Amino acid sequence: MNLKKPIDLLVAESAESGEGTLKRTLSSTSLVALGIGAIIGAGLFSLTGIAAAEHAGPAVTLSFILAAVGCAFAGLCYAEFASMIPVAGSAYTYSYATMGEFMAWVIGWDLVLEYALGAATVGVSWSGYFNKLLHEFGLELPTYLSKTFAEGDGGGINLPAVVIVSLLSLLLMRGTKESASLNNFLVVVKVAVVLLFIGLGWKFINPAYHHPYIPENTGLRGQFGISGIASGAALVFFAFIGFDAVSTAAQEAKNPQKGMPIGILGSLAVCTVLYILFAHVMTGLVPFQVFKGDASPAATAFKVTGYSFLQMGLIIAILAGYTSVILVMLMGQSRVFYTMSKDGLLPKFFGSIHAKYRTPWKTNLFFMVFVSLFAGFVPVTDLGHMVSIGTLLAFSLVCIGVMILRKTDPNRERPFRTPLVPLVPILGIIVCVYLMSSLPIEAWIRLALWMGLGIAVYFFYGKGNSVLGRKQKGE
Ligand code: ALA
Repeated sequence: MNLKKPIDLLVAESAESGEGTLKRTLSSTSLVALGIGAIIGAGLFSLTGIAAAEHAGPAVTLSFILAAVGCAFAGLCYAEFASMIPVAGSAYTYSYATMGEFMAWVIGWDLVLEYALGAATVGVSWSGYFNKLLHEFGLELPTYLSKTFAEGDGGGINLPAVVIVSLLSLLLMRGTKESASLNNFLVVVKVAVVLLFIGLGWKFINPAYHHPYIPENTGLRGQFGISGIASGAALVFFAFIGFDAVSTAAQEAKNPQKGMPIGILGSLAVCTVLYILFAHVMTGLVPFQVFKGDASPAATAFKVTGYSFLQMGLIIAILAGYTSVILVMLMGQSRVFYTMSKDGLLPKFFGSIHAKYRTPWKTNLFFMVFVSLFAGFVPVTDLGHMVSIGTLLAFSLVCIGVMILRKTDPNRERPFRTPLVPLVPILGIIVCVYLMSSLPIEAWIRLALWMGLGIAVYFFYGKGNSVLGRKQKGE
C-alpha cells in the first residue's frame, strides 16, 4: 500500500508550537540570507575558473545563465510547495504528500547526498583556502594532516575540514537563532567580497580577453562552442545548490507563506546577478586559459588589479563564505532527518529536541561524525559529483510533485503558485535530467549504490515503524 500523508495533517503538524517543537525565529530577510548563505561558495570561487578554462571561456557567464534558468524552474516549484506545506522536511515532505511514503523515503535518503555530502565538499574546499591562509603567514600543516589518505603523497586526514564541520555542528546544537545570526554576518562578508571584486575589478577588464566571447569548439563535445557552454553549466550548477535549503527552515520561519517564496526565489535571483557579473569580471582580468588547474582562480584574477594588500582579506572572506554554506547545509540535513524521524521512518534518536536549546541536537551530533568522516577521508571531486547528481534528482522529483498535486488536489489554497504549470515543471525536469546526463558514470553508480542501501533500510526499518502506516493498521 502506498501511503500518502494528508496535507491537512502536515499543515497542522507545522503549526504546533511549544516544547518539543522548533522555534519560529526567522524573518523573510533572514530567509533570503539563509539562501545566499547556502548558495555562494565553492561553486563561485573555485569552479568558475575551471568552467571557463576547460569548457566555456568568457561565455561562462552564459553557462551561469543556463544553470540559473534550470534552477529557477525548480525554484518556482519549491516555492509553491514550501508556502503550501511549510514543514522542515523540504522535498521529502512534498513527496510524502504527493507520491507516497516510498518515494518520500527515496528523496529523504537522496537529500543526504545534497546536504551532508554538500557540507563535506565545501568543508574540503574550506580546508584548501585555510592552508593557503596559513601559507601567507609562513605556516604549513604537515601533509598527513591536510590531505586525505586517498590523495596519496603521504596524506592522512583532512584535519581542517573535520574541525570546521565539527565546530559548526556544535554551534547548530546550541541554537538556531545563534546560528542564523552568525550566518547573517557571514553572508554580509561574503556578498561584500563579491561586490568588491566586481567593483574594483571592473575598470581593469581588458576587452581583448573577452574576444571571441564564445571560443570556437575544439572538435570535442563540451570543449568550448555551444556544447562547452552546456558543459560549463553542468559544472557551475554546483554554485546554485542551496537555495532549496531555505525550504528546510519553513518550520522556523515567522511567516512561511510569504517568507518561503521570498527566501527561495530572492536568494536565487540575487546570486544569479552576482555570479554573472563576477564571472564577467574574472574572465576580463586575465586570459581564461590561465585558470587551468587553478584551485583559487578568484585570487589569481584579483592579483592583476594591483590591490594586493586586499589579497589576504579576499582569502578570509572566501573562508567566511564557505563557512556559511557548510552551516546551512548541516542545518538543512538535520531538519530533514528530524522530520523523517517524527514520521517514524527513522529512529526516535533523530527527532529528539534539546530541552533548553530546542534544536535537534542528536541529529546534529550524528551528522557531525558522518560528515567529518567524508570531509576527512574522501577526495573533493568524488564528493562534488555525488552532491550534484543527488540534488538534480531531488529537483526533478519536486517538479514532478507539483504537477501531481495540481491534478490530485487542484482546489487547495496555494499562497504561491508556480506559473505556467505544467510547462515550467516539465522544463525543470528536462534541464535537470540533461545536467545529470553530463555527469560521469561513477557518480551514477554511487547514486545507485546509495539509493540501494536506502531502499534496504526502508524495508527493514522505516516501513514497519512508519507512524502513518501503524495508524492505518490501527496499531
Ligand atoms: N552552492 C554552494 C557552493 O557553491 C554549494 O559552495
